[in-house]
Amino acid sequence: MTQTLAEPTAAEKTAEERHGRPADRCAMVIFGASGDLTKRKLLPSLYNLGQKKLLPQEFALVGCSIEQMTEEEFRQKVHANLVEFGNASEGGQFCEWLLERLYYVVGDFRDPQTYQRLKPVLEGADQKHGTGGNYFYYLATAPTLFGEVIRQLGATGLADQSGGHWRRVVIEKPFGRDLDSARALNHEIGQVLGEDQVYRIDHYLGKETVQNILVFRFSNGIFEPVWNRRYIDHVQITVAETLGVEQRGGYYDRAGALRDMVPNHIFQLVTLTAMEPPISFHADAVRDEQSKILRAVQPLSPEEVLTRAVRGQYGEGAVEGQSVPAYRAEPNVAPDSTTETLVALKLSIDNWRWADVPFYIRTGKRMPARVTEVAIQFRRAPFVLFRDTPVERLAPNTLVLHIQPDEGISLRFGAKVPGIMVDIGAVNMDFHYSDYFGNEPSTGYERLLYDCMIGDATLFQRADMVEAGWSVVQPVLDVWKALPPRNFPNYRAGTWGPKEADELMAREHRQWRVLH
Ligand code: BG6
Repeated sequence: MTQTLAEPTAAEKTAEERHGRPADRCAMVIFGASGDLTKRKLLPSLYNLGQKKLLPQEFALVGCSIEQMTEEEFRQKVHANLVEFGNASEGGQFCEWLLERLYYVVGDFRDPQTYQRLKPVLEGADQKHGTGGNYFYYLATAPTLFGEVIRQLGATGLADQSGGHWRRVVIEKPFGRDLDSARALNHEIGQVLGEDQVYRIDHYLGKETVQNILVFRFSNGIFEPVWNRRYIDHVQITVAETLGVEQRGGYYDRAGALRDMVPNHIFQLVTLTAMEPPISFHADAVRDEQSKILRAVQPLSPEEVLTRAVRGQYGEGAVEGQSVPAYRAEPNVAPDSTTETLVALKLSIDNWRWADVPFYIRTGKRMPARVTEVAIQFRRAPFVLFRDTPVERLAPNTLVLHIQPDEGISLRFGAKVPGIMVDIGAVNMDFHYSDYFGNEPSTGYERLLYDCMIGDATLFQRADMVEAGWSVVQPVLDVWKALPPRNFPNYRAGTWGPKEADELMAREHRQWRVLH
């Protein structure tokens, strides 16, 4: 008997109403189905979507990879992954349901035969599961294969939308490794797919707290009037990680912190913080405004790169009480590597709202704490009133959007310390997500997969945005390539980076926020 996902109960129906309707009928094809992303993120996300009744009944999942496996072995593997990484119970209803509509195609992604074998599997799924010819292909492959897979999909007719069905392609990061390669890839993709078929993923946009930046800014009347150069002194964005490069040395040593984090994740945070209100929440309305911000970022001259961009590489040290090796001693990293594991940058956004308001960004591996946040630092109040008091200086107000791990929002302001003297203490007004909304299991990919299935590209990168992002970092890549660093490693693992990062701020009489 064919398994169906149970009808929602009354209580669940409310949840369904709250979360939306099940996605459109479709088949999902994962290229790179035996890899890490599939087991850690994609399968658990499908499970979570299934739990919320957001997967369509008419669904099929096709794994495709070069690993020799029978379909039965693939089913067993998926089953085990769902239990290990996705909180599914062994033999539970969801597993049964998914395994019934799970297929496996083995093959090399450069070989046209692979696609010839995929085609009948998908047509069979249409027959058996009613997926209606709607397919989306998730490229969880090496980036060097993105163009190739898309070309082959085109050649086999698998990307063809004539006939009333849709075909979409989700492309993982990294999208290119500089401006030229990103342009070339966009061009290659454009030979086969319309822009509306392309879903360039940035998993930061799957994070609730990142999505909340827009809601926070535009659903609350009190913040927008002060969200500009009249009231804001500067913005600091930190994405600090305690982890090193783990098993990804091979990729990371060719990429580095700038490519890995800045034109993608950090620019999402910059654009959502800085953009003008869009005319609607439609995909292009939002992305137009994000794109405008990237185009307004002042390009750095080679001289400015030297003063506004700082790079670092960690040496050995200790993180959270554990000794850790230097970057150069990590697996698959060259022993004389000049790859940066930390970047600090000062950006200027040349538009009416942000002129003269610096955006300082920093990101690094092996820092003392895992913290991602956007801190808006407001201008100080005039000191006049306090001249005849023991108060020496007024602390600025800071609004912090805590992206992870302690998701929330806090506002710091000065309050009178109780007593007979006038003294001011900095206090925080804190909102924690978990206090209000609890913690729902999430990988951050659920919303992105769901949006792809319903055809909403708001949280995906458009071609022009990706290119605009690379344009901003390209001058830094060029100067750094021409002038290899001579002082690496220049920060100890478990510290906040080299002294140059502090000097970047100190020169402008500012300092990085002290984080824990
Ligand atoms: C990835 C980078 O895109 O994002 C990694 O390649 C980085 O180097 C990761 O560790 C950070 O993501 P998150 O969700 O842990 O902040």
